[in-house]
Amino acid sequence: MNTASTRHILVTGGAGFIGSNFIRLLFEHRPSWQVTNLDLLTYAGNLDNLADVKDHPGYRFVRGDICDAVTVGPLMDAADMVVHFAAESHVDRSIEDSIPFIRTNVQGTQTLLDEARRAGVERFLHVSTDEVYGQLPLDRPDLKFTEATPISPSSPYAASKAASDLLVAAAYHTFGLPCLTTRCSNNFGPYQFPEKVIPLFVERLLTGGRVPLYGDGKNVRDWLHVLDHAEAILTVLEKGTPGEAYNIGGNNERNNLELTHTLIGICGRDESAIEYVPDRLGHDLRYAIDASKIKRELGWEPKRSAWPEALQATVDWYREHAQWRDRITSGAYREGLPKRVTV
Ligand SMILES: NC(=O)c1ccc[n+]([C@@H]2O[C@H](COP(=O)([O-])OP(=O)(O)OC[C@H]3O[C@@H](n4cnc5c(N)ncnc54)[C@H](O)[C@@H]3O)[C@@H](O)[C@H]2O)c1
Repeated sequence: MNTASTRHILVTGGAGFIGSNFIRLLFEHRPSWQVTNLDLLTYAGNLDNLADVKDHPGYRFVRGDICDAVTVGPLMDAADMVVHFAAESHVDRSIEDSIPFIRTNVQGTQTLLDEARRAGVERFLHVSTDEVYGQLPLDRPDLKFTEATPISPSSPYAASKAASDLLVAAAYHTFGLPCLTTRCSNNFGPYQFPEKVIPLFVERLLTGGRVPLYGDGKNVRDWLHVLDHAEAILTVLEKGTPGEAYNIGGNNERNNLELTHTLIGICGRDESAIEYVPDRLGHDLRYAIDASKIKRELGWEPKRSAWPEALQATVDWYREHAQWRDRITSGAYREGLPKRVTV
């Protein structure tokens, strides 16, 4: 075991959007900590996201599958705490084919829990989503998800995350594994794979294309900057109470049409850039998070999510990182990917 000043964190899915932002923030705030990043490098995992931290003396990358106990076991033995991001994360893909979601999000989470218990880790933080609560009506702005809202997922993605939440709760109740669960609203910011709405729309708008808007565009999401999310996760990891879930949100509800218009304005395009397309199957109407518990108990609140400034800064980031965008849209970042890397 390490001393408090040199904690060793096993991060799963650290080459993805939120995980890579979390690792960067962790090294800024806790420079003496060590991070092992276990990531399978699926289509969504990209080592370019971590180019600026790969030479940090406390960083190690392991390419591997969270479903593989043989890979996970020794990494758990070396870890003090776990932050579990790895997941299949795109709702539309889960509608096309849910099997990878069941495998990674459900079986993978259980494999991690079993190995964490065997190794006796101090804390296991499971990164989940507000989507496990299902949807809220559009005509009841007074309603928000609290941690007491029943789990009632709609999409195969949300159902797989809900299953993982319940397995985490079971590991706490049955075995006393010190688990924490965070449920966050929609994230935006740098390094997001351009299948999610903001980077997809920015890519299209910056390159003269049109943006596919689902249905009437009235579906509402709460938007939080990814570094606010990362900071909330570090707060819960250090100060949260095992067995508890914490909602994380930006108090920043926007419908998709409003989001699209704001992006069009920032990118200097006009209304003709919108292409209305058939709605997503089972599209949840509204998500809204009551994040008062994490503020009251742990003192966290968002600092970087002010709208539209934070969105403008995000578009600027994508504009200024044309090479990152080119490599990701052409798939070039995948060329020469090692089968297994332990650096
Ligand atoms: N993006 C959001 O707005 C949002 C909001 C709330 C919660 N979440 C949750 O946060 C977590 C991270 O989301 P994200 O947007 O960064 O996802 P992402 O798709 O960008 O990244 C997922 C990462 O997990 C890795 N991975 C996938 N399967 C794996 C496996 N079997 N073994 C090891 N690694 C594997 C991928 O290679 C990738 O690097 C997910 O658990 C997601 O459910 C996301």
